[in-house]
Amino acid sequence: MKGRAVYIKTFGCQMNEHDTERMLGIFESKGFIEVEEPKKADIVVFNTCAIRQKAEQKFLSSLGRIKHLKKKNPELKIIVAGCVAQLQGEKLLDRVPYIDYIIGPDNIHMIENILENQISNKIFTDENPLVANIKIPAKRMHHVKAWVNIMYGCNNYCAYCVVPYTRGRERSRPVESILEEIRLLGESGFKEITLLGQNVNSYRDGDIDFPSLLEKINEIKGIERIRFVTSHPKDLSKRLINAIKYCDKVCEHIHLPLQAGSNKILKLMNRKYTYEEYFEKICWLREAIPDISITSDIIVGFPQEQDEDFEKTINALKEIQFDGIFAFKFSPRTGTVAAKLDGQISEEVKSQRLTEILKLQDKITERKNKLLEGTIQEVLIEDKDEEEYSTGRTRTNKIVKIASDIGTGKIINVKIIKAHRHSLEGEIIKQ
Ligand code: SAH
Ligand code: SF4
Ligand code: F3S
Repeated sequence: MKGRAVYIKTFGCQMNEHDTERMLGIFESKGFIEVEEPKKADIVVFNTCAIRQKAEQKFLSSLGRIKHLKKKNPELKIIVAGCVAQLQGEKLLDRVPYIDYIIGPDNIHMIENILENQISNKIFTDENPLVANIKIPAKRMHHVKAWVNIMYGCNNYCAYCVVPYTRGRERSRPVESILEEIRLLGESGFKEITLLGQNVNSYRDGDIDFPSLLEKINEIKGIERIRFVTSHPKDLSKRLINAIKYCDKVCEHIHLPLQAGSNKILKLMNRKYTYEEYFEKICWLREAIPDISITSDIIVGFPQEQDEDFEKTINALKEIQFDGIFAFKFSPRTGTVAAKLDGQISEEVKSQRLTEILKLQDKITERKNKLLEGTIQEVLIEDKDEEEYSTGRTRTNKIVKIASDIGTGKIINVKIIKAHRHSLEGEIIKQ
C-alpha cells in the first residue's frame, strides 16, 4: 500500500481512544504521519462506537461525508475499526461497498499486515483469545498521563449493552506485561496512568487480583497517580476499598455506574445488585475514604420504567450525592435482551426524564464543588493554554484552572478560590 498520511476519527470510550493510540503507533512505525483532515490523507480510519444509536449515526454521517474523496481518488483506503466494525462486519461492507477494510477491536495488529500488502482479506473480526498478549506500539496523545489496558471484553451481559458482543469474552492481561508497560511509562516521564477495562474489579492473573495489581503498580518509580475505569458495583470488595485507601498513588475517585435506582429495573437490566446493596458499598467507601469522589452512569427510559421507578432514580441521586454523572437515554441495540422487552418508553418521556436528572445533578455537583472553596488540593498540571492558564486535576478528578504558567507534569498544592459546575479555579499557595 502506497501513501504516507493517515487520518483517524475516534468515537466512543477511553478504550477506543487508546485503541486509536495503538493504531497510530502501528502507522507511525510504518512511516506514516497523522493529518487533521481526511482530504489530506492516503488512509482514513474510523474507530467506531456502537453503544447507542447516536454514536453509530455520527460515524455513518462522517463516512458519508468522505464518499466524494474516494470517488476523486480511488487509491484512498478507508478502514472501519472499533465496535460497529465488529458488530456489523460483512453487513457493513454490503451496505457501504467503498469501505476497504473492516477491523474489530481484537484485530488491530492486522493493520501492520495490511500496510505491508500481505493480506487479501477485507474483514478481520475473529475473536482473538490472545489479544491480551499482543504487543502493539502506542503513539500517546498526552505526555503526562497514559492509558493502560488491563482487561479486554466483558462477560456481564447487562441487558441493554452491546459491549459483550463487540469486545468479546473477558480476558485479563498478564500481570508482568502490564507492569513492564507502566515501568517504561514511569521512566519516560509519565506521571499518571489510568487502567482500562470494562470491569476492572474482576481482573485476575493467577493469584493476582485487582487489589494486588494496584499494590504492585503502586511501587513503580516515576508514576505518581493511579486511576482506573470502570468498576462494576457487584464486584466492589472491601479489599479493593483498602487498596484505594492504603496505596498512596491510587487516587480517591471511583466511577461506579448505578444505572437505575429501582430494583425492578436493575433486575431487568441484569445488573446483579439491588439499590440497597449498592448504597451499602457507597457507605463503605465513604467510611474508609471520607474525601473520595464518586461518579456514576445513569440510564433513563429503560423498558418498563414507570414514573415510580424513575422517581427511585431521582431519590437515589438525592441520597447518594454523586460528584458527577453521565446520564443517557436508553437506546435499544439490536441483539441485546432489552431491545426486545415489552414496555418501551417514548422518546418524549425519555427526554423529559433526562432533562430532570441532569438538572438535579447539576445542582448537586455545584453544591459539592462549592464545599471545596478555601480548601487546599493537590493538583497535577496536565496542560497550559495560550493565556498562561495552567489546567490540572485534583486527586478526586476535578478540573482546576490556575492563572499561572506552572509547567506540565508538576504536582503542586493549590488553594481553591472559586467553584464552578464543571471546574474549579485555584491559586498557587506559597510553600
Ligand atoms: N463497562 C462499563 C461501561 C460501559 S458503557 C460499565 O459497566 O459501567 C458506558 C455506559 O453507557 C454504561 O454505563 C451505560 O450507562 C451506558 N449505556 C450502555 N448501553 C446503553 C444503551 N443501550 N442505551 C443507553 N445507555 C447505554
Ligand atoms: Fe456493558 Fe454491563 Fe459489560 Fe459494562 S458491565 S460493558 S454495561 S455488559
Ligand atoms: Fe467503547 Fe463504544 Fe465500544 S463505549 S467499548 S467504543 S461500543
